[in-house]
Amino acid sequence: MSSSPDGHQSEMNLASVEDTDFQGLPPDSRTPGERAEEVLSSMSLEEKLGFVTGYKSLAIRALPRQGLPSVWMSDASSGPRSFGAATAFPSSIAMAASWNHEIATLAADHIAESARAKGISILLGPGVNIARIPTCGRNFEYFGEDPFLAGTLAAAYVKACTRRGVICTVKHLAVNNSEYDRHKVSSDLSERTLREIYLPAFEMAVKEGKTRGIMSSYNPVNGVWASENRKLLTQILRDEWGFDGFVVSDWNSLYSTVGPMKAGLDIEMPAAKWLTPEKVKDGEDDLDRMAGNILRTLFAAGIYDRPVKDSQAREFHTDHNDAALKAAREGIVLLKNEGGTLPLPQGDGITIALCGPLAVESSTLGGGSCHIARTTGTVSLFEGLKAAASGNADADTVAVKIVYVQSLNNPGSRKILREADAVVIACGFNYQTESELYDRPWRLPPSQRRLIHRVSRLNSRCAVILTAGGGVETESWIDEVPALLHGMYLGQTVGRATAEILFGIVNPSGKLPFTMARHWKDIPSVKNYPKRYWTTNARRIALGQGNPSLRKIRHWQYEEGLMVGYRHFDTAGVEPAFPFGFGLSYTSFAIEVLRLSAKTIVPEDSLDVIVKVENTGKRAGSEVVQVYVADTESRLPRPKKELKGFAKVELEPGEAVETTIRLNPRAFCYWDSEAGGTDSPGAWVAEPGEFRILVGRNSGLIESENKVRLSR
Ligand code: BGC
Repeated sequence: MSSSPDGHQSEMNLASVEDTDFQGLPPDSRTPGERAEEVLSSMSLEEKLGFVTGYKSLAIRALPRQGLPSVWMSDASSGPRSFGAATAFPSSIAMAASWNHEIATLAADHIAESARAKGISILLGPGVNIARIPTCGRNFEYFGEDPFLAGTLAAAYVKACTRRGVICTVKHLAVNNSEYDRHKVSSDLSERTLREIYLPAFEMAVKEGKTRGIMSSYNPVNGVWASENRKLLTQILRDEWGFDGFVVSDWNSLYSTVGPMKAGLDIEMPAAKWLTPEKVKDGEDDLDRMAGNILRTLFAAGIYDRPVKDSQAREFHTDHNDAALKAAREGIVLLKNEGGTLPLPQGDGITIALCGPLAVESSTLGGGSCHIARTTGTVSLFEGLKAAASGNADADTVAVKIVYVQSLNNPGSRKILREADAVVIACGFNYQTESELYDRPWRLPPSQRRLIHRVSRLNSRCAVILTAGGGVETESWIDEVPALLHGMYLGQTVGRATAEILFGIVNPSGKLPFTMARHWKDIPSVKNYPKRYWTTNARRIALGQGNPSLRKIRHWQYEEGLMVGYRHFDTAGVEPAFPFGFGLSYTSFAIEVLRLSAKTIVPEDSLDVIVKVENTGKRAGSEVVQVYVADTESRLPRPKKELKGFAKVELEPGEAVETTIRLNPRAFCYWDSEAGGTDSPGAWVAEPGEFRILVGRNSGLIESENKVRLSR
């Protein structure tokens, strides 16, 4: 086991969880609250303190006198990385690229099943922080730049885990959008920006997903540490949203004793540092509330009523690999495909050359606490292409020769590349270059850009495959390549899923969950970002972790306010390289709004948008119908349009279907910080007037629209 600068184990392959002979308490018909009360009343002060502070970095401590076992946790969203090998599912950003809540459900269901097989009851995810800047080292762990997309997928993910008896801790509350100096930079923003951009995904995870856990973040928000931010952890989370579970701290993110206890935090992780018997002088009421929240939640989830490990749960089953593959296929976005470059040519005598740093090394996930070091079988792109080419793939077979070219520095290699029928260049980042703890560069490394230039000059039929957790600069090389795929981080089936798309065995259906800018200067959120944000080192990261008194806290103004991602590009009329929601297919589609369920609605109403989608091409494929709402006239400035609904539809060639997308009442609202009473300033406001319902295939391509009037 090794330790990261944050003190949490970065290679957590503990052999096994403890308390495996616990078989569950006898049946009990009392409510979780009543059962929690009884246990609480039997606990000593020392037991309470032990219970609200982490055990072995990854557990809620056992209560031996009460006969209750430890409750084990693990990271997280792409599979349980602790306690041995795990199937590595695609990253959350790839799940978001599927724009398919069924994919999030499928992945979460299998991840939770293998967690139960290992004896894990708490999954430390999913992360729903907004991709505010493309280079945040953890964007790959989150669901992209749009709060509605992120919230929808997170809610689906949480529900699937809950059904399996696994508690999710949706993280990191809140406004943790960069890894650069994450312990030392306060995210300063307006109330409206907080409510409209950075909180809705958490709110949806609480209200729709009914998450039983939340994790606070490292950073201060408007100068108040998230772990002791009463407004976030109690007033908004519990009082407004009705959250009834427990709040766990991020690892080593407490900075005082009284602050977190009073603010609404329930568990200090990974161990007692601030909540020690020496430091907690009084506050038994707070401890009762904290321990009570934990106990009630664990009872509600049935955790004490069952054995620690679920012996029926499957762990290394091929179903898990199949589910990971299904998710990976939908996480690939085809960004450019000129002159029918893709699918790759097939048939006897065809040669495909493969080069680039990620051709043989599989970049499955970004680095840090979400990375799964030991998978249950990773397939590299080279292996995936060879398997698909030799007909080993389950689906259709193809017969092609695949040649890997390691370096361009000899004439033989260059000849292969020149004479190949097509070349695939695998570029991007990996768990070392894109990771928790630091942000990554916006441009591909110079060696990779050089490779693209050189290869594209040798062979004009070339396709670049990117692996990255967000936007990457493409402007300097995009014109040189006819085809580009964005693969996000696709988990252990990365090579197979990508090969299937390249050969056309699977039709791409992923859509960007973020905007890809043409130029760095086009992104307003980077205005207050340090110039050399990617230059960091272990000392800098470690210094002041959990002890910010060693460093001065800086304040970053979120000056762009609501204008994050497409909200900015659309409203300011700046052309991106690839818009939010963009992704090509090997077939074509037409979309039309047939009708709305009403012409006039009141603020409490939902609205159904009935859309016809047709596959106008020659192949089966899936399209994502995206519904954006635009407020025609508003008292407060609003983004030009905002995503408020979507549906993924699978269609045979020539097939047309009607699909209904429901917009909930919040779809029409903005947050008005002046509204509401003096006790609770601010409220969601749906302003009467006309709204345009814009339906299209990405934020830059609206194909059909209709109007609805909102009256009082
Ligand atoms: C991360 C959390 C993670 C925790 C436990 C922290 O460094 O920020 O997201 O759940 O470690 O590994």
